[in-house]
Amino acid sequence: MNENTVLFVDDEANILKALKRLLRNEPFEVLTATCAEEALEHFRRYEIQVVVSDQRMPEMSGADFLSRLRERYPDTIRMMLTGHTEMDTAVEAINRGEIFRLITKPWNEDVLKAALRQALDHCEMKQEIKRLNQVSREQNFKLQDMNRNLEAKVRERTQQLGQKNRALRKGYIETIRALAEAVDAKDAYTRGHSERVAVYASRIARELNLEKTLIERVYFSGLLHDVGKIGIPDAIITKPARLTEDEYHEIKKHPEIGAKILEPVEMLSEIAPCVRHHHEWFDGSTRGYPDRLRGEQIPLPSRIILVADTVEAMTSNRPYRKVLPLTVVIDELRKYSGRQFDPKVVDAFMSLLEQQGDDFISKDEKFDIDAFIDA
Ligand SMILES: [Fe+2]
Ligand SMILES: [Fe+2]
Repeated sequence: MNENTVLFVDDEANILKALKRLLRNEPFEVLTATCAEEALEHFRRYEIQVVVSDQRMPEMSGADFLSRLRERYPDTIRMMLTGHTEMDTAVEAINRGEIFRLITKPWNEDVLKAALRQALDHCEMKQEIKRLNQVSREQNFKLQDMNRNLEAKVRERTQQLGQKNRALRKGYIETIRALAEAVDAKDAYTRGHSERVAVYASRIARELNLEKTLIERVYFSGLLHDVGKIGIPDAIITKPARLTEDEYHEIKKHPEIGAKILEPVEMLSEIAPCVRHHHEWFDGSTRGYPDRLRGEQIPLPSRIILVADTVEAMTSNRPYRKVLPLTVVIDELRKYSGRQFDPKVVDAFMSLLEQQGDDFISKDEKFDIDAFIDA
């Protein structure tokens, strides 16, 4: 069967015969039917691109036949071949959008052939458009599919990265804690000192409404503030008696040693200056060390650590004295506020004491930095 097929429907066999003869050399197959029933039979068996129907037929009018055909075979191009007397109904059919072209009987051969060629071209174009639409729909589906896969993959990778990041941070915090514990372990009296200073300092930082990254920095600086004591002889650190001037001079080196230990570690490089300056005095006096910075020149974490360090030291047992009551600590902080200590930091600590009383220095309660970082 030829690729293109035209079906003529007419109740007059002579007309069909004439049409077949006329179109025998055209590049399409010609089928004929003498009634609507026979025409539908052809439709069931063949793929028909163009149908040309007579208007006046005994059982069903051409317009009705084409109208029904439109519902079942919407892609077939419909044409009408009609005499002048049936022009009204033919025009009405055209206006209802059911017919591609109208050819009048008796036909002009060239006009008929040209109309058929146009109809077939039109049909081919419609099929091409349909095919392209289908292709673009399929490509769209494929694209949507790829997008969905990509999104899922990105989500999965992001989640994995988040988990790895959390694990890394956890390892980082544990390493810093271990380092702090190693320092504190040099002296039985200072066990847990660094962790407690870190906790007190972070609470003060939170009371000062510092942003999260700064609170974290305060916490880690607190943990590591005395890391330089690793470089000081144990005999000096654990000496139960009063230190000689030389020994005191030696111990005063611990902030610098600590900063030097931390500086080469990229993750800790911001903490190094906070450690270096945790014994500076707020008024810049010579009692502060190592650089005698003053006021805002001293990093805020260092100023906070100095208060936390003092509070922790005074409220812990020492070989040469027992725990001091909080009232003594308060008096000391008030006395040196603006001199040794940043008044803003002292105020924040006082307001915490007002809220929490003795609970502030409760030894077992910890600042939950892990939960804080995960939040
Ligand atoms: Fe210190
Ligand atoms: Fe300390």
